[in-house]
Amino acid sequence: MSAVRATDVVKRFGEREALRGVSFEAGPGELVAIIGPNGAGKTTLLSILAGISSPDAGGVEAPDGAVGWVPQQAALYRRLTVEENLLLFARLEGHEDPAASVEEMLELTGLRERRGEIVARLSGGNQQRINIAIGLLSRPAVLLLDEPSVGLDPRQRARLWEFVAALAGRGTTVIFSTHDIQEAERYGGRVLVLADGESLFDGSAEELRRAVRSEAPESADRDFETAFVAYLQHRGH
Ligand SMILES: Nc1ncnc2c1ncn2[C@@H]1O[C@H](COP(=O)(O)OP(=O)(O)OP(=O)(O)O)[C@@H](O)[C@H]1O
Ligand SMILES: [Mg+2]
Repeated sequence: MSAVRATDVVKRFGEREALRGVSFEAGPGELVAIIGPNGAGKTTLLSILAGISSPDAGGVEAPDGAVGWVPQQAALYRRLTVEENLLLFARLEGHEDPAASVEEMLELTGLRERRGEIVARLSGGNQQRINIAIGLLSRPAVLLLDEPSVGLDPRQRARLWEFVAALAGRGTTVIFSTHDIQEAERYGGRVLVLADGESLFDGSAEELRRAVRSEAPESADRDFETAFVAYLQHRGH
């Protein structure tokens, strides 16, 4: 059973093919990391899975309904409070009882004590929590996060991943992109490697290590990031 599925997705921007027939699916409770160089198509794939951008060919299905989207750049109103931001988005999304949805999200993301604070004065970690809370407002079966840990200090990162892992533990499918290979290995139960719009690898972190080692044996005793770069190079990227 899959919670979200992309089949042969192609996306073009003018002459450029950002995605060249990418297929991918994830089941309930799966935690999937998408890695790959700048311009690989990570954001494009996530935004198509989120339904905010449509593919030029191929299709996307999310049988369980709502898909939550947490963009890299939080679209927050910096001069409003935490609560006002959430309320605004709950209204925009047409929630039946926006105030109740907001309470639920404040509770879930541990932002209750911060509800009255102006967003601009919050730390990056707490701003990221609001960003995630907005993505979760519709109680989606699938949550997509684009480079969620950028700019967070190690402790805030740890808190972010603890929260995300708990969501997955409760059955939410979580798909995130990152440039941090270690993070992808540690938190992604599965890793999808994209490069130049193509899917190069889809499997467990352990399988990725094996693939990297066999494809780039000369860098087997280097750190994994270096070996991964060699692997990409061997694959023509
Ligand atoms: N709105 C757009 N208009 C034109 N080209 C775009 C647009 N969005 C993305 N692209 C192009 O599509 C390709 C894939 O971009 P995308 O943002 O998905 O990559 P990415 O893997 O997320 O990269 P990064 O790691 O830098 O975030 C790139 O070549 C990019 O220039
Ligand atoms: Mg991106």
